[in-house]
Amino acid sequence: MIDKETVNIGWRAPSNIALVKYWGKRAGQLPENGSLSITLDKSSTTTFLSFKQKKHPEESIDMEYYFHDEKNEKFNEKIERLLSNLLPLLPFLTSYQLSFYSENNFPHSAGIASSASSMAALALCLVSMEERVTNTKLPEEAFFRKASTLARHGSGSASRSVYGGIVSWGKIASIGQSSDEYAIPFPLHKDSRLNNIRDIILIVSSEEKYFSSSYGHDSMVSHPYREGRKAQVNSNLDQITKAIQENNTKVLAKISENEALSLHALLLSSESGVVLLKPNTLRIIDEIRQFRESSGLDLFFTIDAGPNVHLIYFEEHRELILNFVQGTLSHYCENGAWIDDKIGSGPMLLTPQTEI
Ligand code: PMV
Repeated sequence: MIDKETVNIGWRAPSNIALVKYWGKRAGQLPENGSLSITLDKSSTTTFLSFKQKKHPEESIDMEYYFHDEKNEKFNEKIERLLSNLLPLLPFLTSYQLSFYSENNFPHSAGIASSASSMAALALCLVSMEERVTNTKLPEEAFFRKASTLARHGSGSASRSVYGGIVSWGKIASIGQSSDEYAIPFPLHKDSRLNNIRDIILIVSSEEKYFSSSYGHDSMVSHPYREGRKAQVNSNLDQITKAIQENNTKVLAKISENEALSLHALLLSSESGVVLLKPNTLRIIDEIRQFRESSGLDLFFTIDAGPNVHLIYFEEHRELILNFVQGTLSHYCENGAWIDDKIGSGPMLLTPQTEI
């Protein structure tokens, strides 16, 4: 056990964008289907956790949560509930006073999942804390698996944000080691073109989403297209994993666009008929497809559960794509706003690791 002094741990975790979408879940935040994403480089959450042993251990979680330097009651409640649920996995938590200080470096509602980066950063801090308070050093693979498992409970897509590169989550027939419990990195050859993948996030609207992804997941339980979606996503996973291994960017593009449009088709055809796409989302899709046709370049789009479009392309075409974005696509963006990001190498520990 450590002494009664305060200990600080900090992690920065990136967000990710799914090419194959997790949509629908079972009890324990387990996914109905496998998913596959690109971890972003810049767009990330930084979280510091400071903890101090309580004089009298109680049974409840004792914590405060600061978001951009301000106490945030909404996040506090959410995280407290999460930590209480995680007690079987982290039984030491009730013996400490916990303070979280968290910041995102990207705008709210920008089409970047802040729940993915924030829950991943939080989970990584908790596993580092576990190492400190139990005086044990986990092997690297076990460390990140535990972080991914914890992150999953906070937000399913967060399970993928504890790794860099291309990451899959959920049992996938073509990926031997895959699991519903945690994500795993998808190995890329060092000369794979996918190491040079880039993402421009076109901000069509920064309005708050009026529905939560939980609604979307729940809507799949009795969705009329439930079985069709399962068959579709399994076939898409099969094709995309082969395409990545074979550097087949045409198939990668086809599957990614099909997944984005299917996600919205499922929302549109759900009981509440959720419409998240905006007219400019559709205009951007049209422009991207026309530009691909006329330029012959490899570029494609994906969209998360919102109106903003991720334009995916490769480093070697950066100049041409930037011209296209500045000259054409930015006109469809709210105040011309877009975010420049790319595939990243994963989370980073921000505080010096003390020898255990
Ligand atoms: O992690 P959640 O529960 O917010 O769900 C994320 C769902 C999508 O972003 C639409 C798809 C995905 O796999 O990230």
